[in-house]
Amino acid sequence: MDKRPKLHFTPPKNWMNDPNGLCFYKGEYHLFYQHNPENCYWGNMTWGHAKSKDLFSWEHLDYALIPDKGFADEDGCFSGSAFIENDELYLAYTGIVMTEKKINEHGNPVTATDDSMISTQLFAKSKNGIHFEKLETEIVAPENSCKAHFRDPKVWKKDGVYYMVVGAKESGKGKILLYKSEDLKDWEVLSEIKKDDFGFMWECPDMFSLDGKDVLIFSPQGIGQNGQEHISGYFVGELDYGTGSYSFDKFNLLDYGFEYYAPQTFLDEKGRRVLIGWLVNHAPLPGENWSGMMTLPRELKVIGERLYSYPVEEILSYRKELIQVGSVTEKSIEILDGAFDMEFKVNLDKDFNLTIFKNKVEGLELSWDEKTSVLTLDRTGVINGFKPLETFGVKRELEISNRGVVDFRVIGDKSVVEIYVNGGEFVMSSVINRDKTQNNIFFKGEFEDIKLWKI
Ligand code: FRU
Repeated sequence: MDKRPKLHFTPPKNWMNDPNGLCFYKGEYHLFYQHNPENCYWGNMTWGHAKSKDLFSWEHLDYALIPDKGFADEDGCFSGSAFIENDELYLAYTGIVMTEKKINEHGNPVTATDDSMISTQLFAKSKNGIHFEKLETEIVAPENSCKAHFRDPKVWKKDGVYYMVVGAKESGKGKILLYKSEDLKDWEVLSEIKKDDFGFMWECPDMFSLDGKDVLIFSPQGIGQNGQEHISGYFVGELDYGTGSYSFDKFNLLDYGFEYYAPQTFLDEKGRRVLIGWLVNHAPLPGENWSGMMTLPRELKVIGERLYSYPVEEILSYRKELIQVGSVTEKSIEILDGAFDMEFKVNLDKDFNLTIFKNKVEGLELSWDEKTSVLTLDRTGVINGFKPLETFGVKRELEISNRGVVDFRVIGDKSVVEIYVNGGEFVMSSVINRDKTQNNIFFKGEFEDIKLWKI
C-alpha cells in the first residue's frame, strides 16, 4: 500500500527535515528543505528544492545549496530563509564545519561531540530562483554565544532596513539574537531575546508582524513532554525596532499533536502569512524510501492572544466527490484510498468519539470528554508495530475551555491526519502507519453539518 501523502509535501526520496527559504518569487511558490542526498536518515545537509503555483502540486528541482569543500559550509548547509531584493532571490542559511567527526549507525558523518562544529551565517543569491551563487558575507557567533549552536537565520526588511533573527545558545540556555543591517553586509546585534528556564537551544526563529502584533515563532529544545523533547510554538508580543526589545507573554504551541517541529512562515503575494511545519519521521514508514513530511500550508491570523492557523484556500480545489452530508449519531463511512477532507460541527456540552482510519477494531481515536473538557487524540490503533512513532508518544490530551457548538475540520492523507478545532484555534497533527484494512471513519456522538469529500 502506497503510504505517500497526496497533498502533504514529501521528498522524492531519502531524508527530509525543516522547511527552508519559503517564498513567492516571480509568480511561483518556492519550498526548500533540509535533505540528505545519501539515505533516509539525518545527515549531509543539503537544500532540496521544489516550486509550485498553488502550494499543493510541486515540481521537484535540483539542489539549491550543497556543501562546498574548503568553505564555511563544507559539512552542511543547515536551515535558513529567503528574501527578495532587486528582483533577486536571496537565501540566508547556516554553514557547518565539523571540527571532529565520526560516522554514525546509518553511515552519516556527525559531530564527535555536541560542540565539535562551527556555525556561520551565510548568504546566496539567484536571478532565476533555480541556480544560486554563494556570497562572501560570513557572520560568526558573537563572543558571548556558543560557536557550535548558532543557526537558522530568518531575514526580513522593514522601512528599508534588514533584520534577522538567529537561534543561539549561551551557557547551556537557548536564546535568539536579533541582528540589523543597512546593506546586507555589515550586521550588528541589536538585542537578545530570552526566557528563563526555557530549553537549552532555540532553533528556527521567525519574527513577523501580523494583525498589529509582532509574533515570534521558535523551536525550543529540551522542554517538551510526553515523548516529544523539542517543541515549536509562539509568543504574540511587541517588538521595539529602535532598541530591539521584545515584550511577550505566554508561549503557546502551534500544534498539539505529535512530531510537529521547525515551522517557518512567509508572506505571499496575496498578503497572507503562511506557515509550513515539519512532521518528523526518524525512519521511513515501512515499505517507503523517503522520511519526513511537511504539514499542509496554513494561513495564520492573530485573534486575541492566540495564533489561529487553517489550511490555505487552494486546498479546496483538490476536493473531489462529496460522499456524506448532514447529521449522524452512529455511522461508519468507507474512505477507500485513504485521503479525505471533512468538516463538521459538534456541541461540546456532549461527549463524542470519532475513529479515523478504522478497521473492524481500531483506528486513530479523537474523543471529547465533556466532564473534563479534554480532547484526546490516541494513535495506539494506527501504529501497527512501527516503533519510531511510539518515540513521540501515542496519546495527546488538549484541555479546551470552548463550549457550545464548535466546528472541526479533519484532513486525512494516507499516512497523516490533521485536525483543526474552532477555525484553527487548535490544531492536532499525527503521522500514522495505517494498514490496508483501516479505511473507515466511525462516528459516535451528535455530529452536525457534516461535509465529507474525497481528495
Ligand atoms: C531543526 C534543525 C535546525 C538545523 C537543521 C539541521 O530541525 O536542527 O536547527 O538548522 O535542523 O538539519
